[in-house]
Amino acid sequence: MTRALPAPVEALVRERAVEPGPLLWLTGAGISAESGIPTFRGPEGYWKVGSRNYHPQQLATRAAFGAMPDEVWAWYLYRRAVCRAAEPNAAHHALVELEERIGPRFRLITQNVDGLHQRAGTKRVYAIHGNIDEMRAVSGRVTAPIPAGIPTDWPKGRALTAADRDLLQVEARPARPHVLWFDECYDEEHFHFDSSLRAAAEASLLVVVGTTGATNLPMQVGMLCARHGTPSIVINPEPNPFSEVVERSGLGIFLQGTAGEWVPALAAAAAEAYAPTP
Ligand code: OAD
Repeated sequence: MTRALPAPVEALVRERAVEPGPLLWLTGAGISAESGIPTFRGPEGYWKVGSRNYHPQQLATRAAFGAMPDEVWAWYLYRRAVCRAAEPNAAHHALVELEERIGPRFRLITQNVDGLHQRAGTKRVYAIHGNIDEMRAVSGRVTAPIPAGIPTDWPKGRALTAADRDLLQVEARPARPHVLWFDECYDEEHFHFDSSLRAAAEASLLVVVGTTGATNLPMQVGMLCARHGTPSIVINPEPNPFSEVVERSGLGIFLQGTAGEWVPALAAAAAEAYAPTP
């Protein structure tokens, strides 16, 4: 299902590869859609607590966790089970091969907490929204893996037990999922805020895959690249704020389609163009 790259895209990649700076990828939930993980804002995102249906934007908040920690934990542990059952797809693997070829010129910023890039083998990755396999103390900064005693196949509707609560602790204090919530701010220590902006400022080319661009840091990355005159290649089945910037400014190209259709071909072209000359 992978498609041949249009000639102007190949030309743009070659042209940018001779400029200094990394080839920066920015990925969102769309790159994991073909692994079977529902996108964040898609119709499968809703969650029932009692008789009420919640949108992820209501549940992924510090306020919701404060009011109903067990329910928010159960939602994350179920989503973690969905991620654990999924496998990296051709697009994740293509980025691993690319990094193997171009090493430090490769950089990835991902909004995904599913860990599929890391499981596939990507090393230079900033997980700017955290990781669903980790937790940290509610009032602390230390992170820890979700303990082995918590089932990795957590079913929908399973409630937390006292034994689960005992396990979900860091340094003997209650823990929370190690993800960034909507009513929280980015930082460098946990969410690579400064590093991401630095990568955007230095990038020779930005590739944006499968995101609506609804969160703050990804949009800043896109805007910063545009301000520096760095072109973007945007891959998405439908137009999004990044493709609109490309079409308005003429700085880059919108490849309409899925990650599976375009990422392997684009990564292969980038591997050719960006590989160090012997
Ligand atoms: P969204 O669910 O908002 O957007 C997914 C995007 O992927 C949409 O633009 C789809 O058109 C696109 N898409 C769907 N299938 C695709 C495919 N096969 N190939 C490529 N693209 C496809 O997910 P994100 O933009 O990642 O943050 O959402 C970002 C953030 O929303 C999440 O990380 C979460 C939330 O804010 C936090 O929790 C802080």
